[in-house]
Amino acid sequence: MSNIWIDVCGTEDIDEEDVMRFDYNDRTFAVYRSADDEFFGTDGNCTHEQVHLADGLVMDHIIECPKHNGRFDYRTGKAQGAPACINLQTYPVKVDGSRVLMQVE
Ligand code: FES
Repeated sequence: MSNIWIDVCGTEDIDEEDVMRFDYNDRTFAVYRSADDEFFGTDGNCTHEQVHLADGLVMDHIIECPKHNGRFDYRTGKAQGAPACINLQTYPVKVDGSRVLMQVE
């Protein structure tokens, strides 16, 4: 993993307990803001089928896929049960001032 931090958005661009899509270099990601104001990053597409998770629902630390309701813990990427059985890739995210940064390599 490289140590290059990519500027994703402002901290206020994502509501608490919500998710935002972020596209970078032909790849797509999902960036989350938890209810306790922490930020996390995962691959954008569900590991079951190619559906973007940013269209899904955030509940506590879970992202629910909009297509078949597969669930993942967005802090760890861990799949929470069928039909989503393959874990999501996660990426380091940090806040620098009012900006959200992510390492995507
Ligand atoms: S596409 Fe996400 S659970 Fe099926």
